Amino acid sequence: MFRKFNHWLARAASGLAGHPVYFAPQTLQVADRSIVLQPAQRGDIEAMVEIERRVYQGYAPWGSLAFTSELSRQHRLYLVATDDNYIIGFVGCSFNWVKNDAHITNIAVTPGYQRQGLGTAMLRALEKVSTENGMLTMSLEVRVRNSRAQRLYRQLGFQKSKIKHGYYEDDHGDALEMLRPLGKEEKND
Ligand SMILES: CC(C)(COP(=O)(O)OP(=O)(O)OC[C@H]1O[C@@H](n2cnc3c(N)ncnc32)[C@H](O)[C@@H]1OP(=O)(O)O)[C@@H](O)C(=O)NCCC(=O)NCCS
Repeated sequence: MFRKFNHWLARAASGLAGHPVYFAPQTLQVADRSIVLQPAQRGDIEAMVEIERRVYQGYAPWGSLAFTSELSRQHRLYLVATDDNYIIGFVGCSFNWVKNDAHITNIAVTPGYQRQGLGTAMLRALEKVSTENGMLTMSLEVRVRNSRAQRLYRQLGFQKSKIKHGYYEDDHGDALEMLRPLGKEEKND
């Protein structure tokens, strides 16, 4: 029993400590464009909020305060995708070294660049860095009514886990939790 507790304590401590997750900038080919994917900086926040406004019809669910807080937190990795230094998309992830789970916190692609494979490419990049950092699963929440995002996630091998009723603070909307074991082949939709 004591040994088990010590084991748990060691895991919890290592989970709390964790370590920074590094991401070397990389170039993706998306619809014949060379898109650079790199860690987000504080100076990128305004552009990230603007993308939120564009994809959510003028409403930015996070706003700059939430992005500022997230970018300053340990165990987080936010990536921005740029075309000619213009930010066209972003994705965020929170790493949990106790559960060995990489949790997708946010993802958006500006409307003119959607449906060209960028969302998929950003999530694949996160999958790779998550696996390299010892994560065993990826998880996320998505609005029950957001069928296009759910389609993207299913194509990447995420499966429905459970419904979280009233999950979203702004309108108490329901979320679908989706999980994907890492290291297994994704399913085709
Ligand atoms: C979800 C989102 C990030 C996808 O980005 P994207 O770059 O368009 O994604 P991809 O081009 O890689 O699309 C991958 C798959 O997602 C699904 N998909 C994406 N856009 C879709 C749409 N408008 N209608 C239906 N399916 C869609 C399709 O299955 C698509 O594969 P296919 O093109 O081979 O059919 C983007 O639509 C977006 O920013 N949406 C608003 C923000 C949002 O909902 N974020 C998710 C919060 S949980």
